Amino acid sequence: MEQIKAVFNGKFDSLKNIQISPFSRAYTFSDSVYEVVPFYNSKPIAYDNHIKRLQYSSNALSMKINLNVISNEIEKLISLCESKSGYVYYQVTRGQDLIRSHMHSNDIELETFGYVLPHFFETKFLKIMICEDLRWGRCDIKSTSLLGNVLSMNQAKEKGCDEVVMHNDNILTEAGASNLFFVKDGYICTPSLSNNILPGITRQILIDALEEIDIKVHEKDFTLEDLKAASSAWLTSSTKGIAPIEEIINLDCNLNLNDESYMIAKKIFDSKFFS
Ligand code: PDD
Repeated sequence: MEQIKAVFNGKFDSLKNIQISPFSRAYTFSDSVYEVVPFYNSKPIAYDNHIKRLQYSSNALSMKINLNVISNEIEKLISLCESKSGYVYYQVTRGQDLIRSHMHSNDIELETFGYVLPHFFETKFLKIMICEDLRWGRCDIKSTSLLGNVLSMNQAKEKGCDEVVMHNDNILTEAGASNLFFVKDGYICTPSLSNNILPGITRQILIDALEEIDIKVHEKDFTLEDLKAASSAWLTSSTKGIAPIEEIINLDCNLNLNDESYMIAKKIFDSKFFS
């Protein structure tokens, strides 16, 4: 904590010195959006895509952000990190109200907060639990309102799992903090984009990389039965990269960690992500 470099409302400081009002709407209403920007060799990965998505999320909440300022802050945080590989967490909050009220005042100023952490992108084999998707109808916004994810992921943790894969009425959506891919009948599949999932940047990096070698990823609605028939499955995110699923505790399936399609996806992904 001592050493963690952070920035709050434009002022760089150690994380331990940052103080936030309990009337910050991040605290009372999760009225805020965020990004997690990974970097490798001190260079941000898919930076423009993260900035674009932050703009999209902020627009959805009608918050007017200054992208130049935010970009400079993220770049400075990366340069302050003691490691060349890590990630920046960056959050934009509507601001502080004088009293708690669902309808916010019009004259409050946005609060911005970021910090940087070292992170090593090692391949982790995941144990997963399937659960119902409890979340709201705008999961395409990268908002800090993550209670549905948090509830399910902590139930999974109690069962010794690393992540959840969620479904709405049998239709697969995504994982608690990552996107889902699996291989069925030799085809690489992933749930299509909708308001029900986050448009993952790592997801898109992989889809584009596979397309470059003429492998089309099938994007549509998939069911739990499709996943049951999968020969391999994996999750993608900015901090996990590609993480293969080795076990799903409550779904009868047979996942092969050496599956050919997975191996191809992992190789092409690594060559792009860490280029
Ligand atoms: N999570 N879906 C959800 C619900 C997520 O929270 C994330 C990322 C993803 C993957 O998105 P991306 O590839 O752009 O990282 C999908 C971040 C890492 C987090 O909240 O820590």
